[in-house]
Amino acid sequence: MGKIHNIGVLISGSGSNLQAIIDACAAGKIKARVACVISNKEDAYGLERARLAGIPALHLDHRAYTGRESYDQALVATLREFDVELVALAGFMRIITPVLLDAFPMSVMNIHPALLPSFPGLHAQRQALEYGAKVAGCTVHFVDCGTDTGPIILQAAVPVLEGDSEETLSARIQKEEHRVYPEAIRLFTEGLLDVSGRIVAVGS
Ligand code: GRF
Repeated sequence: MGKIHNIGVLISGSGSNLQAIIDACAAGKIKARVACVISNKEDAYGLERARLAGIPALHLDHRAYTGRESYDQALVATLREFDVELVALAGFMRIITPVLLDAFPMSVMNIHPALLPSFPGLHAQRQALEYGAKVAGCTVHFVDCGTDTGPIILQAAVPVLEGDSEETLSARIQKEEHRVYPEAIRLFTEGLLDVSGRIVAVGS
């Protein structure tokens, strides 16, 4: 029996990825627990998901802080309170600063709904459709100072089908998100990710 790792999940919305992580922990697929969920939005449904699972659900309103750094300081303080070792961004609609990244070196992950480095930033699925891409997907990566630029951990591809809307493509991608995000966390908690520059070697 290895140690149980504490994960802090940051959200702004529905939290379906959060749910996938909670479920994977509950099923024993990941040796970890979601120690706290923090949202910058009070009405994020993900907070309700956390409460239903008996997980501390905190609203930290970014508007109450003078800048990104001071907000991130509050995030770090809260994550430390819960002994968090891995921070998982799951639909967290905030640009984060080195204040958070330096506090959790190579221990902040994000999921992005595109095959990076294609289509970083907002509305990735719409970008893929408008570009005419035939393959789309999702990427789990470590977070660095750029927007969706950090070392890639796992990716999954899905086809773009004729007649796809942003909604149908997003739904197809989300199915894969819910599979690869818990898997990336499992690899992290089992010490199977070896990062060298941009390259993440995945052990088994
Ligand atoms: C996902 O599409 C994820 O890739 C992106 O934000 C969305 C969050 O969805 N970063 P949910 O809140 O986990 O349902």
